[in-house]
Amino acid sequence: MNRIKAVIYGVGAMNSIATRMLLDKDVDIVAAISRSKDKVGRDLGDLTGLGRQLGVTVTDDAKAALAASGADVAVIAVNSYMADAVEQLRICAEAGVNAVTLSEEALYPWNTSPEITAELDTIARRTGATLTGTGHQDTYWVNIVAMMMGTSHHIDHVTGHASWNVDDYGPEVASDQQVGRSVEEFEEWLRGAERPPTFGRNVLDALVADTGLTVKSIASTTRPDVAIGPMHSQALDLDVDAGQVIGFTDIDEIQTEEGPVLTFEMSGRVYGEADGDINEWEIQGEPDLVLSNGTVPTQITTCTQMVNRIPDVINAEPGFVTIEKLPRLKYRAFGLHTYLTEKGR
Ligand SMILES: NC(=O)c1ccc[n+]([C@@H]2O[C@H](COP(=O)([O-])OP(=O)(O)OC[C@H]3O[C@@H](n4cnc5c(N)ncnc54)[C@H](OP(=O)(O)O)[C@@H]3O)[C@@H](O)[C@H]2O)c1
Repeated sequence: MNRIKAVIYGVGAMNSIATRMLLDKDVDIVAAISRSKDKVGRDLGDLTGLGRQLGVTVTDDAKAALAASGADVAVIAVNSYMADAVEQLRICAEAGVNAVTLSEEALYPWNTSPEITAELDTIARRTGATLTGTGHQDTYWVNIVAMMMGTSHHIDHVTGHASWNVDDYGPEVASDQQVGRSVEEFEEWLRGAERPPTFGRNVLDALVADTGLTVKSIASTTRPDVAIGPMHSQALDLDVDAGQVIGFTDIDEIQTEEGPVLTFEMSGRVYGEADGDINEWEIQGEPDLVLSNGTVPTQITTCTQMVNRIPDVINAEPGFVTIEKLPRLKYRAFGLHTYLTEKGR
């Protein structure tokens, strides 16, 4: 059975971790794509801190790299929202290369970016590629919650609380979280027409899709998280003064026609010493249920899930296939190619 060939698309914080994990799981990395002058032309092994060269030179010519690579999958960690992610996903789909992406909106983009998603779905079906958004949300915010919902007889309310540290990721994330802005600038950004969908909205949309419920109404509110003393954002290498924004908290709520209400409060901010990642979900209904993960290393579980999803995505039917349509995520003890079905090989 041939080993899986992967392209690393975006050479930042997440794909540096994913590169090591892919190599550990017998994946051959055949190309790497980035953007900045200080990365293009360098060896992927050097850039990702592996301590050895991989013989893969980073390029900024994504189309040529994908066309020449013969890759089975592109591993994308570039940006968060479909308006930006469409560029990378379209290039992969046109080249007939399957893709897993960490773009948060790609988790379930059918409601928040329907035209872009439909366009990508059409291209991917034509070329035989499968495109899937995954990452930390896959299990911790969607599938683990969906499984707990599956143990209910009746649900009134599903409530989730999660937080993650902006500094576990690269500058792309910290900028998106508005770190270093004044509260006035933040409020202006929030009022602006360009405010992208909350990550929580796409999580709740995936849960609703998984259960076959019907959305009646959606409400989202966002509040800035503000430094109470001087802080430093490692991701941006930026000192933040008391009173400046260190991230924000979204509260999303979906009311369904059938009755259950789903609420998700998610905070992404620069942490102080006492902070840690949380993931807590509660179901009110028959019976009342609670799930608490204590401290979750979100940075690592983001990459493990993206890597472990790869066989499912290669095995899946072509199109834009969201995670609730894929099998339950599984531990991959062996090389990823050993999990390919007849269709995926
Ligand atoms: N779903 C999840 O669970 C999850 C978790 C963590 C992060 N994320 C998302 O994943 C994305 C990446 O996170 P990160 O921490 O790895 O960010 P990062 O360290 O800032 O890395 C982003 C990388 O993308 C590259 N890039 C940007 N635009 C590009 C383009 N047009 N073409 C090619 N390469 C491009 C950048 O290249 P240069 O450095 O060369 O400019 C950089 O290497 C973020 O949007 C983040 O929100 C999702």
